[in-house]
Amino acid sequence: MTTNTNLSVQVLGHTFRNPIIPAAGPNVGSGAMVRRAAEGGAGGLLAKTISSIAAPVPHPNMVRMGKDSLLNTELWSELSPETWFEREYDIALAAAREYQLPLIASIGYTAEDLAMLSPRLEEMGIDIIEFSIHYLDTQRLIDTARALRNAVSVPIVAKLSPHAGDLGEIARVLDPYVDGFACINSFGPTLMIDIERGESPLGSQYGYGWLSGSAIKPLAVRSVFEVARVTDKPVIGVGGVTHGEDVIEFFMAGASLVGVCTAAILKGSTIYGKIAAETAQWLDAHGYQSIEEVKGLYLEKYKQGQRVVTTVEQTAWVNESRCKACNVCEKVCQFSALHAPPKQIARVEIEHCAACGLCVSVCPFNALEMRQRENAV
Ligand SMILES: Cc1cc2nc3c(=O)[nH]c(=O)nc-3n(C[C@H](O)[C@H](O)[C@H](O)COP(=O)(O)O)c2cc1C
Repeated sequence: MTTNTNLSVQVLGHTFRNPIIPAAGPNVGSGAMVRRAAEGGAGGLLAKTISSIAAPVPHPNMVRMGKDSLLNTELWSELSPETWFEREYDIALAAAREYQLPLIASIGYTAEDLAMLSPRLEEMGIDIIEFSIHYLDTQRLIDTARALRNAVSVPIVAKLSPHAGDLGEIARVLDPYVDGFACINSFGPTLMIDIERGESPLGSQYGYGWLSGSAIKPLAVRSVFEVARVTDKPVIGVGGVTHGEDVIEFFMAGASLVGVCTAAILKGSTIYGKIAAETAQWLDAHGYQSIEEVKGLYLEKYKQGQRVVTTVEQTAWVNESRCKACNVCEKVCQFSALHAPPKQIARVEIEHCAACGLCVSVCPFNALEMRQRENAV
């Protein structure tokens, strides 16, 4: 289904044809993979993180967890910076120019690395530079950001990691040196044990890996919200973007673009365009003409926090025209307030309902909602 919804966004002085771009990973691990992202419908481009040396990556380094998540031990690019400068960036830039998309280069990690790599990127025509704080201690953040700021005039994005601490505070500290933020990097370290072998599927020293994909989405959405609360600069929301609805959620939290890594690894490069189409469909179905209209909706409402209700003023309420008597709500009610015997519409015993809200979220038919008690009869 095609829609007239406008997905194009202006961010960091560039036009993105839609707000879905790759996040650093093997999905953009070479010039050819960056081209595939363009062909697959990404709204802008990004190439995997490089540093002053090729990364000594353990093998194996990726394993799927559940349906939409991954553990990885990839570090940064296994290709040397020279390989990128001599070949891969040219291929990526050619794709960017052909598809008229901005190209972001990702670099790490020390001030020296950034001061050395970034002027060469600017000279080549890279549009935006993202630097990762993943392996930095927080004491050195400012030195690193300042070194990059002094070295180039293209826009700079700081990519934040969830283990770095209070991301709102880090954003505040980095704000004078950067033009935008991306959050989050993968979360961890974490551990998965293959119980048949009693071993980790990953080749790192203790078998640890970094978690990404839908498992980290709520952490990523919270991080975007926290960063967007302290800065007016654009935030790229990254972490678990798999469907169009995820894009809407990140935008409502305050994101200006979203990055996709795990979904592109697991589903292929056409996922960028698919997520863009789903985003347009959602906006269309909800009466929005452009993605900008949903931006910051949640951020504005919750910026100062909401009134916290600790008394039980609400109750679950059944919309009988929607209830299909499936009994799911009764199973999850920890307070014996919901009754749904076989083939009977669910019924709430208001005096037992603890207003926890869980039943609303599990009902497959949207037949439950929370209401003020006086309006629930
Ligand atoms: C296999 C793999 C490799 C990654 N490599 C990098 C990298 O080189 N630089 C970086 O900043 N982030 C890297 N990331 C993190 C992603 O860019 C992204 O921040 C994180 O995975 C969350 O997004 P996702 O849930 O869409 O994957 C990597 C993630 C994965 C799964």
